[in-house]
Amino acid sequence: MVEVAVLVSGSGSNLQALIDAAKAPDYPANIALVISNRPGVKALERAAKANIPHLVIDHKAFKAREAFEAVLHDTLRAHEIDLICLAGFMRVLTASFVAKWPKRILNIHPSLLPLFKGLNVQQQALDAGVDKSGCSVHFVTEGLDDGPVLGQRTVPVLEGDTVETLSARILREEHILYPQVLREIAKALKSRS
Ligand code: GAR
Repeated sequence: MVEVAVLVSGSGSNLQALIDAAKAPDYPANIALVISNRPGVKALERAAKANIPHLVIDHKAFKAREAFEAVLHDTLRAHEIDLICLAGFMRVLTASFVAKWPKRILNIHPSLLPLFKGLNVQQQALDAGVDKSGCSVHFVTEGLDDGPVLGQRTVPVLEGDTVETLSARILREEHILYPQVLREIAKALKSRS
């Protein structure tokens, strides 16, 4: 079994999709740990409800990003985590952290990468006037939203769409895509070990 930590900062609807998928008897990954960099978020409630160990590492308690990441790294190691899934985790990880987890960090991003990196991506898509958008799961590398894309799902951008309507349409596809990609990556990892 591939032991997975999910890193969150907010609602955790993608976390929920991963928790639900991992209940399937043949699913190759176990959601073993949930870490939030923000206290009091709904994602932590979801983890509690699913009886998954969960904790807060509040980035505001650290002066330097490196100090935050050192605690994060040690915690992941202590829980014998094989793979990290970022799911609405709104902290940029440094190159030195990423280098410690090569091809071991996945992220879900609400655009068809390489289009629209960074923040406010649905607004970026609306401003660009594209007729389709979507979501991507990719390996995290040191460049922001830049690693190899592992899977994508597409949605139409409709007349009159707002950030809210487009985000909701994309989010529904995220909940299908992330469990699928995690299944594939975990299966590949398992077959190597
Ligand atoms: C999702 O749309 C995810 O793709 C996005 O934040 C949302 C989190 O929702 N992530 C990013 O923008 C990362 N750059 P959730 O907490 O309900 O899963």
